[in-house]
Amino acid sequence: MSEPVISIDDLSVSFPTDDGWVHAVRNVSFDVEPGEVLAVVGESGSGKSVTALATMGLHPSSASITGQIRFHGRDLLSVSEREMRGVRGNGIAMVFQDPMTALNPVFKVGAQIAEMLQIHSDISKAAAWSKAADLLESVGVPEPGKRVNQYPHEFSGGMRQRAMIAMAIANGPDLLIADEPTTALDVTIQAQVLEVMKAAQEATGAAIMLITHDLGVVAGIADRVVVMYGGRVFEEGTAREVFYSSENPYTRGLMSSIPRLDSPKGERLVPIPGTPPSVLSPPPGCAFSPRCVYADDECTESHAELRSVGSGSSHRSRCHKLGQLTEALAGGAS
Ligand SMILES: Nc1ncnc2c1ncn2[C@@H]1O[C@H](COP(=O)(O)OP(=O)(O)OP(=O)(O)O)[C@@H](O)[C@H]1O
Ligand SMILES: [Mg+2]
Repeated sequence: MSEPVISIDDLSVSFPTDDGWVHAVRNVSFDVEPGEVLAVVGESGSGKSVTALATMGLHPSSASITGQIRFHGRDLLSVSEREMRGVRGNGIAMVFQDPMTALNPVFKVGAQIAEMLQIHSDISKAAAWSKAADLLESVGVPEPGKRVNQYPHEFSGGMRQRAMIAMAIANGPDLLIADEPTTALDVTIQAQVLEVMKAAQEATGAAIMLITHDLGVVAGIADRVVVMYGGRVFEEGTAREVFYSSENPYTRGLMSSIPRLDSPKGERLVPIPGTPPSVLSPPPGCAFSPRCVYADDECTESHAELRSVGSGSSHRSRCHKLGQLTEALAGGAS
């Protein structure tokens, strides 16, 4: 097997606050393999963005951070800020939820993409502008020759997100991190932007870490899925394993909030009752136990480890009741 592009190993990130330490990410480990789409899914506050920001070296300097994030074998947590700037944009690029935070409103879109190209390679201004137009074309922006000369506010939301993707893939990164890239867009535009990302991934061979709270978004695009809750990985497996053979009550809860094509008309989606755990004082046992209908004393008293589901597969789940809920879940929650 080839080496992972990125290997996150026992990553923990905590922030000092007036109320105490916020443990945002706890002992998280997962790999992203070359060319794959890995979805990181979980409710708000589960630690997805903090994991992504730490990977980009963009976490606040006050954060306490332990573990390793190896990019092609090099631990990004111990490289200098200068080296990290070289990795960002070139080796790892990021697409944010709101492109207006990443695009500068006072510069033409073409100038911003051209600058990105010129920072990382020795290319003339004219060649960079011409490549900027090619990149816009590759992500489906019509009339790219005209669009390079426009400002971000002249682009619609979906077109801006395409411009962000063009900028992110400009230097042929090995990993593209997309944090809720479609959340602010309406449903049809969301689907188009995902298609553009998938096409960009196929054209460049980059791996994608796609972060979303919506398991429905990843169904058609993810090769593998990591489910996070309360700063921890609760489940990891291929998309097929997670969608069809999850025995994790939290993942099942996320799934019941996805609209199904075969649902009877008017059927309401069922959000998971209750709220995510407090990051300041999480419950002593399984973080999901206060919301889990299957929880018993074991669950409220002790924390569950991430364990393999079946033998020899990459499917892992964190639940005390692993292997005991097959029938209950088949008949109910899905
Ligand atoms: N700089 C910070 N200081 C203190 N707490 C923080 C900081 N950044 C994040 N947190 C906390 O860490 C936890 C995880 O945050 P994170 O942004 O990773 O969640 P998320 O999974 O991306 O959620 P969302 O779906 O809402 O984007 C949250 O409780 C958040 O409030
Ligand atoms: Mg987030």
